[in-house]
Amino acid sequence: MAPTAITPDFSTYPDLKIVPPSAPDQDSDSLPSEFEEPNPIAPLRAALVSEATPLAVRFRALFSLKHHASKHPPTLYTLPAIHAIAAALPSPSALLKHELAYCLGQTGNLAAVPFLRTVLEDRLEDAMCRHEAAEALGALGDWESLGLLRGLRDEAGEAEVVRETCEIAVGRIEWDHSAKKKSERLRTSDFTSIDPAPPLAQGTSQHTIEELQRQLLDTSFPLFGRYRAMFALRDLSSPPDLSTAVPAVKALASGFSDPSALFRHEIAFVFGQLSHPASIPSLVATLSNSKEESMVRHEAAEALGSLGDEEGVEDILRGFLNDPEQVVRESVVVALDMAEFEKNGEREYAVLPEEL
Ligand SMILES: [Fe+2]
Ligand SMILES: [Fe+2]
Repeated sequence: MAPTAITPDFSTYPDLKIVPPSAPDQDSDSLPSEFEEPNPIAPLRAALVSEATPLAVRFRALFSLKHHASKHPPTLYTLPAIHAIAAALPSPSALLKHELAYCLGQTGNLAAVPFLRTVLEDRLEDAMCRHEAAEALGALGDWESLGLLRGLRDEAGEAEVVRETCEIAVGRIEWDHSAKKKSERLRTSDFTSIDPAPPLAQGTSQHTIEELQRQLLDTSFPLFGRYRAMFALRDLSSPPDLSTAVPAVKALASGFSDPSALFRHEIAFVFGQLSHPASIPSLVATLSNSKEESMVRHEAAEALGSLGDEEGVEDILRGFLNDPEQVVRESVVVALDMAEFEKNGEREYAVLPEEL
């Protein structure tokens, strides 16, 4: 079906629908007639950067921009979309800002690097945002950022989440450029995200859940290797009716007792990707634990948002709308919007072009 262009109208929220036109490749000599359609970036950017826009709408605008920013090969909208995402970085919302950094890292486009380095290098910036910027530089495989990442990894006074993220990002970039990578056989994943670490390579036989859980929980092992076990377990948890899914989810949930807050928040992030009902008890326990780090509780709230069509989940989330932690409160707002989307069976949590 050909894509149709609809002028964005954010006043219709929550039934937000934008169908951007398709864009030609940058190196096209002439612009096809459909390019005369309205530019989809400007209204998305306007919605994203405005503090007056409801947070959930900003998130939906962000994921639409991410779609344009991640196009390969790039289109005429790719760079403007990257710049639009970066333009919202001065926002006072740590939740939004860290999501902007995450999305920039998912673009696969090195044009995002300078924006991410600025966030990471700013010691006054929120640690969760700096963590996400470091992880994004790793996701982009940016060799030129290795010096910065190694420096922060080794800096004693640096926030632990930043140091640990830099350690993983260094591991990822080194792996990305290694000869070893080419010889590794990786199981095809159901997930299109660029992860902080690839899943563990397959040997002659598939790793058992017990082996993966052992590596996941072994704190004497480098974090990069432990993350590789985490993503291997994630891939064994999907699709949800796979025979390994429930045991793999339970193995992942055991990671919530790890001493590293970064590690625990990544478990919650993975559960958000999986949307497996078996993860609900551990996510609710994490969100309910007021002694848990807000970064971990925020991720648990958003993961529950992706399970919003499961009975009772929305009510649980609503109970945290007035949480003392701003990042948790805001995550609940976004999570409830995601839950709404899950219930309505919308195809993507964003405003995307129709399938061609
Ligand atoms: Fe994160
Ligand atoms: Fe997060």
